[in-house]
Amino acid sequence: MSELVLEGEVRAEAGVNFALIKYWGKAPARAAHEANLPAVPSLSLTLADLGTVTRARFAPDAAEDAVWLDGERLAGEPLRRVVAVLDRIRSVAALRSPFEIRSTNSVPTAAGLASSASGMAALAGAAGRCAGLDDPARVSELARIGSGSASRSVFGGWVAWDGPAARPLHPEDHWDLAVVVAIVSRARKKIGSRAAMNLTARTSPFYAGWVQQARGTFDEGVRALAERDLEGLVAAMEASTMRMHACAMGARPPILYWQAESLAAIHRVRALREEGLMCGWTMDAGPNVKVVCEREAQGVVVEALSEIPGVQECMVCLPGPGIRVSLGRSEG
Ligand code: PMV
Repeated sequence: MSELVLEGEVRAEAGVNFALIKYWGKAPARAAHEANLPAVPSLSLTLADLGTVTRARFAPDAAEDAVWLDGERLAGEPLRRVVAVLDRIRSVAALRSPFEIRSTNSVPTAAGLASSASGMAALAGAAGRCAGLDDPARVSELARIGSGSASRSVFGGWVAWDGPAARPLHPEDHWDLAVVVAIVSRARKKIGSRAAMNLTARTSPFYAGWVQQARGTFDEGVRALAERDLEGLVAAMEASTMRMHACAMGARPPILYWQAESLAAIHRVRALREEGLMCGWTMDAGPNVKVVCEREAQGVVVEALSEIPGVQECMVCLPGPGIRVSLGRSEG
């Protein structure tokens, strides 16, 4: 085993992302480092201002990895997911030392924007850099081991993921869109994305159809994005979202993330379109609804969604940069 590559501290900051074209389903993994390889291609937008800051350093004298999230020491399954990423870093870099990791999230958990995506991306960026691994595709692969969608948070702006690592498609200033998140519930979801997608793959009769159509919907989304065709992007995004949720609803026991207020928000988006305002909705593994629109239309969308009984809050999110890694201690 070689010497430690870096003795100081590394700070990495990553933003959350949300999927326009959904990842739902994993390819079979024959080894730990093949975890979370996607069964379908996905397309996402990395967001500004919401994310995770992680500080990593080697702790050669410690007995094991020590990880803190928002000041609390991790244990159990959340710790195991982090250690899976650290184990892969040690294996690739031929190192043995435990790490000390401290992370802070700036994502309100109520927003239903996966903080695990920014968290695992920042972890891979910071701990990877400690071990001399800083190629973005390599960092994306490392992040993916912790959480599939985290592979996309390594890159800024518009990102595609259809293999071991995600890849950037367009920078954050490619298109002036906004995402309005309508928060309808702050309750913790009953079934997380990992368990839900595995249950779907095992038991939903619609899963094979979902996988089979995914490439076509992805290609549609990629084309619409390149051409800044909002109507085309919305059509692909809503098809991907509907099919993902339909596929999950077909599982045994069925998985249902939607609430009455989610459906009310969806109908409101459809009404806005009929009134002439182009916008589209999507949902992930939770009841909150995300609406994509031109930036200049965000005020109208916020107003329309805020009027729905049961919508507790609307949050506006904008495209953001990829991971930022720096050496040494700094504030943030
Ligand atoms: O990578 P995970 O386990 O957070 O799964 C993400 C699943 C969805 O958010 C529903 C879709 C996606 O592509 O992000």
